[in-house]
Amino acid sequence: MWPSENSASRPLYDRALRVMVAGTTRHIPWQDPFPRFAASCRGMYVTDVDGADVLDLVMNNAALIHGHASPPVMEAVQAQLWRGTACTLPFEVEVSLAELLCERVPSLEKIRLCNSGTEAVMLAIKAARAYTNRPKIVKVEGIYHGMYDYAEVSLDPKPDNWGNDPGRIGYSRGVPQGVLDDVIIVPWNQPEALRRILRDEAASVAAILLDPVSGGTGFTPPTPEFLDAVHEAAHEIGALVIYDEVLCFRLGYHGAQGRFGDRRPDLTVLAKIIGGGFPVGAIGGRSDVMEAVFEHRRGKPLLPASGTFTANPISMTAGLVTMQMLDEASYDKLDRIGDTARAIMRDALARAGVPGQVTGIGSLLAVHLHDRPIHDYRSAFASPTEAASLRALQLAMLKRGVLMAVRGVAYLPTVMADADFERLELAVRGALADMAQHA
Ligand SMILES: Cc1ncc(COP(=O)(O)O)c(C=O)c1O
Repeated sequence: MWPSENSASRPLYDRALRVMVAGTTRHIPWQDPFPRFAASCRGMYVTDVDGADVLDLVMNNAALIHGHASPPVMEAVQAQLWRGTACTLPFEVEVSLAELLCERVPSLEKIRLCNSGTEAVMLAIKAARAYTNRPKIVKVEGIYHGMYDYAEVSLDPKPDNWGNDPGRIGYSRGVPQGVLDDVIIVPWNQPEALRRILRDEAASVAAILLDPVSGGTGFTPPTPEFLDAVHEAAHEIGALVIYDEVLCFRLGYHGAQGRFGDRRPDLTVLAKIIGGGFPVGAIGGRSDVMEAVFEHRRGKPLLPASGTFTANPISMTAGLVTMQMLDEASYDKLDRIGDTARAIMRDALARAGVPGQVTGIGSLLAVHLHDRPIHDYRSAFASPTEAASLRALQLAMLKRGVLMAVRGVAYLPTVMADADFERLELAVRGALADMAQHA
């Protein structure tokens, strides 16, 4: 059984180590002492290579809103596989998914598909630059928007370098100074700071990039004042507002933007659930902006954009069926599932007498092992000791057959049921007891 040395995952990890740095190609599955390899996935569960079941609360980093191998999605994908997996000519299903998304989200007047959230954020930033002919973007401190250099600036500042006003800190080594110069960092939910920080560079700002609900802020929702300030400031300075709803689109039938009022971003970025478990991304928004940058019938567009697997019929089919299954009632269900899981986690922390809190909204949940009030990136930031305790909790839960992300985050799907909550409750109580014993 994982994580013992005789687990069938161990030789797989050894093979992986020979050909992949640290035995993995992405951080998400990394797990001390070595990754737990999957044999198959179904519904809420992953069966590992030892034959043990794991309740999966991560769902491939929030990409699977109906759990693994959802039968209607699998049936539709199976049928599509023999009709074509990728083709130079477009399939009807691309149009159908685009129609569904535009019908549900009023700000999406035109939409364009791509292959990942990273790519969609990159396209949105480039679109804003192309439309405004300005170089800079504004983003919020500590927020993940994928791997584009500009989107990564100040993703993980620490107390020793974050400064008074948020600084511009490169994420990977060697980020060109020019990239840092073109990204302005603001704190979350502080309208006054936003206005003040923007003042000097307003004329060169192409866009304000915003994730309405992000793990980086402990899923703290935006205040209406902050959203108003973002939209007003962008309007005043002639910049665009981009919402990154790659993760938080799952918060409402009309997206997170529908849940937090009726302000319309100029551009919205989507990914994850709209691909139904297959790679996808999308950028959409105002017709005039989309047409100005992407229209190619009169010659080279302001923003040339393409991709070999863009709008491939497998991702489109899985995404369409997934989104069709996600009717208005599903969002109430997701809220109830999130409330139940958060209550279980809170209760377990309280019973164990462990200082901590559980934040989140809808189907998003985050555990923090400190009780400082959380309202932005800095207040959500875990000290090295707190981060180590969180990793220990996550590991102890995984040993008891429940998978949360290493940072104590969960993304819950529509198929979570009573037996799964019971399993979660047993695992978290047991894990906290294990930790108390070893403290
Ligand atoms: C808010 C947000 N933006 C962008 C991305 C990047 O998406 P992808 O992993 O599909 O490139 C993510 C991924 O977790 C995300 O959560």
